Parts: sequence; C-alpha cells; structure tokens
Amino acid sequence: MATSKESKAEKIPREFAENTSMHGILQIHNSKRLSIKAFWFILVLTVMGMLIYQIVDRFLEYFAYKTTTQISERYVQNLTLPAITICNYNRYFNLTSEAEKNATQALSFALDFGERVDNFSDFSLRNYMKEKGWQLKDDVTLIYCAINELSLCDASDFEPVLTNTLGLCWTLNIPEVQKRDGYKDGIQISFNVLQSEYTENPLYGKWEAGIKFQVHSPDVPPQVDVYGQSVGVGLWASAAIHKTQVQNMYAPWGPCDRDNENLQFHSTYSLPACMRECHDKLIIANCSCRDPSMIHYSGTRECTVGEVVDCVAPQRLELQFTFGPNECGCSQPCDEVRYASSLSYSTFPSQNAAVGILPILNDPAITADYLKTNLVGLSVFYDTLSITTAVESKAVTESGLISDIGGQFGLWIGISVVTLFEILRLFYRLLNYHLCTPDEEKEQTQEISNIESQPV
Ligand SMILES: *[C@@H]1O[C@H](CO)[C@@H](O)[C@H](O)[C@H]1NC(C)=O
Ligand SMILES: *[C@@H]1O[C@H](CO)[C@@H](O)[C@H](O)[C@H]1NC(C)=O
Ligand SMILES: *[C@@H]1O[C@H](CO)[C@@H](O)[C@H](O)[C@H]1NC(C)=O
Ligand SMILES: *[C@@H]1O[C@H](CO)[C@@H](O)[C@H](O)[C@H]1NC(C)=O
Ligand SMILES: *[C@@H]1O[C@H](CO)[C@@H](O)[C@H](O)[C@H]1NC(C)=O
Repeated sequence: MATSKESKAEKIPREFAENTSMHGILQIHNSKRLSIKAFWFILVLTVMGMLIYQIVDRFLEYFAYKTTTQISERYVQNLTLPAITICNYNRYFNLTSEAEKNATQALSFALDFGERVDNFSDFSLRNYMKEKGWQLKDDVTLIYCAINELSLCDASDFEPVLTNTLGLCWTLNIPEVQKRDGYKDGIQISFNVLQSEYTENPLYGKWEAGIKFQVHSPDVPPQVDVYGQSVGVGLWASAAIHKTQVQNMYAPWGPCDRDNENLQFHSTYSLPACMRECHDKLIIANCSCRDPSMIHYSGTRECTVGEVVDCVAPQRLELQFTFGPNECGCSQPCDEVRYASSLSYSTFPSQNAAVGILPILNDPAITADYLKTNLVGLSVFYDTLSITTAVESKAVTESGLISDIGGQFGLWIGISVVTLFEILRLFYRLLNYHLCTPDEEKEQTQEISNIESQPV
C-alpha cells in the first residue's frame, strides 16, 4: 500500500516536470548529471528571488497611490462669461443719525469678532442690510455696464447677495459668450462706491475704500471676503482671466468622492457650497433660527439682531476653526472650474473722462475731485479663448500592474497564466489522489503503473 502510494505520488510531479512550460523546472528534471541539476536548481532559486523582489516592488508602487496630472490646452470658438460678485468695503449707507451710526458700528463689530458690545433692539437684520446696504442704481452707483462693448447691461442684471462681513453684494451673471481674445470682448463695469458716505469704524480695522470682487462659476456660491480681489477708488482694473477645468482623482488616489457630492440646495457640488450647508445647518440647530445671509431654509424663523449677536456670530466664528472640511464630511470636488485672474490698473477717470461722466450723474454736488475718490472701474475678460484642462490619473493602473507582474513572471521564470493552470492541475491531481481515491483503486493503479514502468 505505502509503496503504491509513493509511486503514484511520484508519477504526478514527474509528468508535471516533463510537460510544464516553466523552463527552469524542465531543465532540472531533464538534467542527467547532479552538478548540472544543482546549477539549474540554484539558478531557478535565484531568479525566483529576483522575481519576488520585483513583484513586491511593483505592488508597493501601486499601493503608494501616486497620480500623474496631464495638462492640456483646448482652443474654443467662444467662452461663456463667468459670474462676478462685487462688494463694497462699506456695509451701511444713508444712516440718518449719529446714534444709528454708532449702533451699526457696534453691530458690525459684534458680527466680525463674535463679541457682544451693546444691547440691540430686535428687528430684521436681513431687511436692514438690504435697505441700508450699497444699492446699485443706474447712473447713481452703477455708472456704466457693457458686455462685448455692444450690449449694455443695467442694475437689473445684478442679483443681490447678503454677506456678513461685506454687507450687500451684487452678482452679475449673464449667459453671454466671449468670441474674441482680450479686453474689448469682456465685461466692463464702473461704480460709484460712495466713499463720502462710508460709515465703518476705522478703529475696528476698516481702513479700505473701493470694491472687492470675485470671478466664479455661476453655480458656486461666492466667498468674496475669502477669495475676492480688491480695486481701490480712482482706478480701473483689468482682470484677464483664464479658465481651468480640474478633474481630481477619487480616493485613495485623490481627494474627491463622487458618492459624497449630493447637496441639499446646490445642484452642482463645490467645496464652498458643502461647507456652507454644513455650517448653516449646525448654526440653525444650535441657535434655532436662520442667519440673515442664509438664502435657503425659508421654513426656519429668521434670527433677530440679538440672536445674531448672541448666538450666530460667535457660533460661526467658532465653526470656522472647529468644523473644517473633514469634520463636515466635505471633500474636494471631482470636477472643478477655476478662474485664474491677473490684474492690471489704470487711472480712472481721466481728466477728460470726468468731463464726460459729470453729465451722466447729473448731480450739481458732484465735482471732478469727487469722481477721483469715489469711482471704480472693472473689466473682466478672457485672455485667450482657450480652456486649460488638468486631468489627474493613476500613475500605476490596474492593467499596468497586471502586465507588469505578468512581464516579470515571463522574464524571470517563463510563467504565464497557462502555467498557473498547470500548477493548479498538479495540486488538484495530488489532492485528488491522496484524499478521494478508494484504496482498492489505488491497488489497481499500482499494478498498472508497475506494468507500465517495467519496460522503462
Ligand atoms: C459657441 O461655440 C459653439 C461651438 O464651439 C457653437 O456651437 C455655439 O453656437 C457658439 N455660441 C455662440 C453664442 O456663438
Ligand atoms: C436715505 O434714507 C431716507 C429715509 O431714511 C430716504 O428717504 C432716502 O431715499 C434714502 N436715500 C438713499 C440714497 O437711499
Ligand atoms: C457715538 O460714538 C461716539 C464715539 O464713540 C461718541 O462720542 C458719541 O457720543 C456717540 N453718539 C451717540 C448718539 O451715541
Ligand atoms: C443690556 O441689557 C441688560 C438687560 O436687558 C442690562 O442689564 C444691561 O445694562 C444692558 N447693557 C447695556 C450696555 O446697555
Ligand atoms: C451650541 O454651540 C455651543 C458652542 O459651540 C455648544 O457648547 C452647545 O452645546 C451647542 N448647543 C447645541 C444645542 O447644539
């Protein structure tokens, strides 16, 4: 019995060694002299070592999750103009009494620094900000607005946006396209910022005059206080913008997560929108009322000034430090549009232009000197009609990894997928023989194999 088992158990590996496509094993088996057998054996061991080293190296490379970024430039016939949000450096205008001025300064201080400094009677801050904010009126604060130098725009093309630190801002979002490179085909706007009526308290760090603007994608909420660029009075700024589309990789290669891109109030996912929803919900949960700058959540009661000062403002400041993107579960977007802008400035208005602008304003109190300290101009245009795309991709792809490993196997020991099946078959036959074959059959096969092996 024991001998029969051995002979059959020897036969299966022998057949394997004779037929396998692994050349090293074949050479060991075929070599007659022991020294040559040993040589082949050592050679096979060495190349196996090299093979394992290389394969571990390939896997480590893959699991490092490195990425490469392919940057390409695509030229197009036309480009849709982006949205522009413009804020004044001053929040409240047309304050009639000194007491009101003092009260709004105290309110601004409380909103900016999250500290209560005064008692406020309860009224709707939202309405107050809208009413006392920087109003856009044709020929009064909006001096000129044109697109492509041909179509004029007016104050009704601007949408009001409330922000906490910059008050009432305005978003210009018209779906016009730019069809030529450069300055002449973009948006040109000029404003009166009403510096002579500024009410911010310089003691609270409000020293600037002019506008702050942000060029952004229409479906991304603006964050002018964070990303805005400034233009001072007496200047015309030319913002040459360039559109870049970025495609980020999903985890673990990159920061984005497509399954996580569902927002309640925004159809397009963006990090600012996600952070905003996160913070707004936390504030509503904690203060049980909504901030004046929140445009959604119409079912929730609006906070009174007292609640804003006592709860919302300190809470918002704290959340900025304690609830970052990780705590809020907000990832970078998978697809992102960025507008890079470079600014250059000229004096505005020129001495001659002042002569032309004074009749438009039609106010005897306004002089050429007034224009120099109150007017701001802004052009926004694409520098070239092209889009830069930056596509992030895996540095080592799965098929790259497989062919790499396959190549290593083939190079070092001549194994292919077929050989793997040969090895599997070897194990299957050995197992099958040892476990499943009944004893009587084993005896029979032993006899047959004895007969077979006799003539050899
Ligand atoms: C913009 O260009 C595309 C082709 O790139 C064209 O189909 C489309 O009509 C153009 N739009 C305008 C407003 O010219
Ligand atoms: C300023 O406020 C008064 C009432 O308080 C109003 O009559 C006037 O129209 C306002 N002026 C501007 C420019 O809004
Ligand atoms: C407003 O504030 C200034 C300076 O803090 C103070 O001198 C003035 O009395 C205040 N006016 C009113 C009406 O409270
Ligand atoms: C604010 O109001 C509280 C009570 O409503 C009062 O005790 C406190 O003196 C007031 N503070 C100021 C600065 O008016
Ligand atoms: C509100 O926020 C404060 C400070 O972040 C926290 O101590 C408090 O527990 C919160 N209250 C609720 C009801 O979430």
